[in-house]
Amino acid sequence: MRFVITAGPTREPIDPVRYISNRSSGKMGYAIADAAIEAGHDVVLISGPVNLDPPRGVQLTSISTADEMYDAVHRLVRECDVLVMSAAVADYKPAKASARKIKKNEKHWSLDLIPTSDILASLSKRERHFLVVGFAAETNDVEENAKKKLRAKNCDIIVANDVSDPNCGMESDENEVTIFFKSGAPKKISRAPKKIIARELVKICENV
Ligand code: CTP
Repeated sequence: MRFVITAGPTREPIDPVRYISNRSSGKMGYAIADAAIEAGHDVVLISGPVNLDPPRGVQLTSISTADEMYDAVHRLVRECDVLVMSAAVADYKPAKASARKIKKNEKHWSLDLIPTSDILASLSKRERHFLVVGFAAETNDVEENAKKKLRAKNCDIIVANDVSDPNCGMESDENEVTIFFKSGAPKKISRAPKKIIARELVKICENV
């Protein structure tokens, strides 16, 4: 099978030296890429800026902004069997990135932000001849919010993780997730190294 996996954060430029981003380390997405390679699949990894070496054998596409990730996903999903959107895509970007460094001359400064395009939601029905796996990072009402995202973003599977615990999930080597399906009972994977969770998720994708 051919997997397209997104990983890491995106960076939305404010000016040549500043950007808006998030705490995503890319570890979960890279672990899934590794597990998919290990299981004998072809893997295209679309990665935001992270401090990780890509697993041997993946085809890496490096991007920085949400717009670049949007273009890369639309270009690379054409040939895939599974899309795993584990990237933490920025929801907002500065309305205009300044070409010059913004000077500190105001007491109060506010930034005008506009929404980025939702990549998962933008995949048309016609394009979706592959399995769509979304992620849901939540701090509260995890099940309710994840199920809402599963429907709103038209996913086959959504992997929900509670990001309120600073020792688990974001930036950590471990995660604890509940996997919700379009149909069927959810599956909880208790706290485990991301590598173990990744292997489990690849198996699920193979058997759905
Ligand atoms: N996602 C996406 N495009 C975006 C934002 C998110 O495709 N512009 C994807 C993520 O890769 C993930 C899923 O949507 O697979 C859910 O992302 P998450 O950050 O949990 O949710 P949001 O849609 O951003 O909603 P909110 O921030 O309100 O929880």
